Amino acid sequence: MRTTLTSIYQAKYGHPTVYVSAPGRFNLIGEHTDYNLGWVMPGAIDKRLHFVMGENPNPDEVRVWAANLQEGVVVPLEAIQPSQVVAWDNYLRAVMLEWKAAGYPLRGFCAVFGGDIPIGAGLSSSAALCCGLILGLAALHRLDVPRLRVALMAQAVEHRIGLQCGLMDQYAVLFGRAGHLLQLDCRTLSFGYVPLRMEEHALLLLDSKVKHALAADSGYNERRQSCERIAAQVAQQYPQVQSLRDVTPVMLESMRTLVAPEDYRRANYIIQENERVLKTVELLQRGDWSALGSLLLEAHLGLRYAYKVTCPETDFIADTAMQLPGVLGVRQVGGGFGGCVLVLLLRTCIHEVVTQLTASYRNHTGLHLEVYPIKTANGAEAVGIAHEV
Ligand code: GLA
Repeated sequence: MRTTLTSIYQAKYGHPTVYVSAPGRFNLIGEHTDYNLGWVMPGAIDKRLHFVMGENPNPDEVRVWAANLQEGVVVPLEAIQPSQVVAWDNYLRAVMLEWKAAGYPLRGFCAVFGGDIPIGAGLSSSAALCCGLILGLAALHRLDVPRLRVALMAQAVEHRIGLQCGLMDQYAVLFGRAGHLLQLDCRTLSFGYVPLRMEEHALLLLDSKVKHALAADSGYNERRQSCERIAAQVAQQYPQVQSLRDVTPVMLESMRTLVAPEDYRRANYIIQENERVLKTVELLQRGDWSALGSLLLEAHLGLRYAYKVTCPETDFIADTAMQLPGVLGVRQVGGGFGGCVLVLLLRTCIHEVVTQLTASYRNHTGLHLEVYPIKTANGAEAVGIAHEV
């Protein structure tokens, strides 16, 4: 990919000086807990966006070519105006605005990017895009920008485009490590690496092909508001509470008649999901895959019936998979309303499960189920490109 993008760059813009790659992510467990300052367990995956970048001889202009889409933009630096439309060039514009807002200098540059992270599949293609561009800007301007700042800027970009997301995706993209998951505490932003060693078992991502655009009015922001509202109500009784992370089941129960039933249901899911993440760490250490499978299923049912962010297609995949021999657990991954379903299964059953699932899914929806075996990968990297003549 790097070679192809470099050739395109050379043909369009001349000599590139920086190469960046940024992975997508999956999340084993801990969904919608990040903006409630709880815990998450994502990992970077071996699907990446690659960027080849260099200086633009015109210091007042940015030229970027999206190789997958075969389209490009030219942005004059004095008129960077992102709209809230979920499109790659708006992320680019919003990245530039956040970069400037952080006080960094911005000179004109050129870039060509492309990759194999499916868009709208719940695998954080937008976090990879934003983190990759920011790391590229840092390298182009020879600035040492700490990764924490990169994560915060990339999150601010999502907020600008309209998604009030947490920091899980950016952390997985920036700090992922091959062979490991990240256990991130979203309050302190401290994290550790948990080895993901699977011999007899495997994880697959099943892409429902139902595209979500979370930033565009999906109900994601509404759920976040719900969580913050109820946390504030609980805090009136229990002043130590700053977010749902601090709310115990007993506290929530004591507030049941005082809060909106929908908020209660959502908060209950978050509290249980945080507990599931902590339990998952123990299960992984013990290698208790069958208990992990049950926990994943429990998490999916929480997303389906309590948090209500699944869709008929991902529920169909989950229900069908659970009927098949060798499947231990399933869970929709990411913000929801479509995207991928994670399946934990016995390695020996992969072929049979994939064959049956793709056939049932096609019969039921007419859609092709894409299957990605999970392979964890390292986080984003930026390197200089030696002058190639
Ligand atoms: C999206 C957001 C993340 C997180 C997940 C749900 O991916 O960007 O911050 O909230 O949804 O866990």
